[in-house]
Amino acid sequence: MSVHSQTRRVTVPDIRAHKGAAPVVVLTCYHAHTARLLDSHVDVMLVGDSLGMVMHGLETTLGVTLEMMIAHGKAVMRGAQKALVVVDMPFGSYEESPEVAFRNAARVIQETGCTAVKLEGGSRMAATIHYLTERGIPVMAHIGLTPQMVHVKGGFRTVGRTEEDWPLLLADAQAVAEAGAFAVGVGGMAEPLAAKITAEIPIPTIGIGASPACDGQVLVMEDMLGLNPDPPKFVRQYAQLGPAIEAAVQAYARDVRARAFPGAENVYPMKKAR
Ligand code: KIV
Repeated sequence: MSVHSQTRRVTVPDIRAHKGAAPVVVLTCYHAHTARLLDSHVDVMLVGDSLGMVMHGLETTLGVTLEMMIAHGKAVMRGAQKALVVVDMPFGSYEESPEVAFRNAARVIQETGCTAVKLEGGSRMAATIHYLTERGIPVMAHIGLTPQMVHVKGGFRTVGRTEEDWPLLLADAQAVAEAGAFAVGVGGMAEPLAAKITAEIPIPTIGIGASPACDGQVLVMEDMLGLNPDPPKFVRQYAQLGPAIEAAVQAYARDVRARAFPGAENVYPMKKAR
């Protein structure tokens, strides 16, 4: 019998069951405190390789390593009791072969305790998605704008803006669904195509800068909280934590410099002599 917490964690079949039903709420998360805050409000926390930019100040996601993903995955798992946690496979850890992908994805699952991994790519990754899911590793696919292809594509560009591009993108979505992915992230995609894909494949589509018709949405948490001074255009901000943090730090610095800082006697009052 398990000695672990009694809280029921969201499962892969739970997420699949959102197809055509209530939208799936997904946010990225990279550390334990925010995982605790998010836990009762989201269905899925994605430990995205966007943490390379957000947490480590990298220019792209390409410098993110398996060790970084595992370290942040462990931190999120310490804070998340209920939400399903998905950890991104970083660039170079899964593309070479299904066997390499399995070895690295198994490490992610074993060392972090997360439920699933996410990897980028459509038709070209279908054999790998099939190999992983057949061997017990649930996979969230990621098609459309895939940030790990930044150098091949020459930047981050919305896909599917001309109808000629649609058949290949639709084929990507169908291929990952047929391969066994339980959901698919749809990144930076023209709205009508994202809506068409959502209508045509049997697994939930999770949009980021795609379409409100998707079966769920994901945002980078720091973007929606106003911590990124230059967020992507499609991001709706629900708070302005950047300016709030700056104001708090300014007030703290002012107090320290004015020696207006509470002394320890306020916290631990001196005992009266008898
Ligand atoms: O790494 C990430 O945060 C992602 C999102 C863009 C979905 O993959």
